[in-house]
Amino acid sequence: MNSLPEKIKKYRQLFNDLASKIKDKKDLEELRQAFLGRKKGYLTLLFEELKHLSPEEKKAAGSILNNFKEEVQASLSKLEQKYPMPRAEKTLFDLTLPGRKTYWGAPHPLTLFQRKIEKIFISMGFSVEEGPEIETDYYNFEALNFPPYHPARDSWDTLYINDKLLLRTHTSPVQIRVMEKKKPPIRIIIPGKVFRRETSDPTHLPMFHQVEGLVVDQGITFAHLKGTLEYFIKALFGEKIKLRFRPSFFPFTEPSAEVDIECIACHGKNSQCRVCGGTGWKEILGAGLVDPQVFKNVNIDPEKYSGWAFGLGIDRTAMLAYEIPEIRYFYENDLRFLRQFIRR
Ligand code: PHE
Repeated sequence: MNSLPEKIKKYRQLFNDLASKIKDKKDLEELRQAFLGRKKGYLTLLFEELKHLSPEEKKAAGSILNNFKEEVQASLSKLEQKYPMPRAEKTLFDLTLPGRKTYWGAPHPLTLFQRKIEKIFISMGFSVEEGPEIETDYYNFEALNFPPYHPARDSWDTLYINDKLLLRTHTSPVQIRVMEKKKPPIRIIIPGKVFRRETSDPTHLPMFHQVEGLVVDQGITFAHLKGTLEYFIKALFGEKIKLRFRPSFFPFTEPSAEVDIECIACHGKNSQCRVCGGTGWKEILGAGLVDPQVFKNVNIDPEKYSGWAFGLGIDRTAMLAYEIPEIRYFYENDLRFLRQFIRR
């Protein structure tokens, strides 16, 4: 039997011989397998032979063998530069890795609810208008028939920027802005953010959303207001929903009303109900016929034209529609809450 150094000499010759004949990367891969293949590679087999040697012999033979291995590896990597492996073969996909998840954005539940409201009014021929969130005292109060120091201002306390500018307390100032520019007939809704000086609790926040409605034309009566709001509320909550109009007061409408809908949680059957406090009703909007003084303020002749307006709290109505007990859930950005509203 040949000694190990002799065998190595023979294999070195074989390696050099084969290496000189390489024409492409396939030959190169075959050469690598022939010498370094994990089971039958010549070098692998030579290393196995070390087992049968005595410790001293093993040491000497081992180092010769290691040198040979390094030689082979060095030549192989040199050859590899000449015949490089294509990228795809080198970096094969690991099919066992879990895929990367893509997260899609989605509209906020209040945006979805607002769109639902807009759709109903658009189907009735209304168009959508917007106005500034920072308002002047004139548009937010005076033009709407709230004189300075009038006690009615108390229930619309807000955050003032200076003596003249404030964060609007309702979407009603946009009524004025639109009537200043457009002549009747007017049929619009105005969604947007509004602000009040409130301490946050389960049903109050210093910022929330309203949608205003305004209709001005010849011959408009309270019947139009009632019919349109009834149609709207039934389209939103279903045919069976009960609603009621209660007399109320707003400086910019006369007569004025508030509209309540039947409590969706208890239908008036639970005197301990957390949603309606046992009354069976929930107020969702204020409304009325446009006060003649408001028309005068925007140069519309109240003898010729009449109109109606309403203002609805979007957040509170959404809370009722989805039976959500906490207004703050809308603003906490907890994905477990928000994802429940995504429709795909
Ligand atoms: N702006 C009133 C509010 O915020 C609601 C309202 C709008 C009432 C239009 C009547 C007409 O409470």
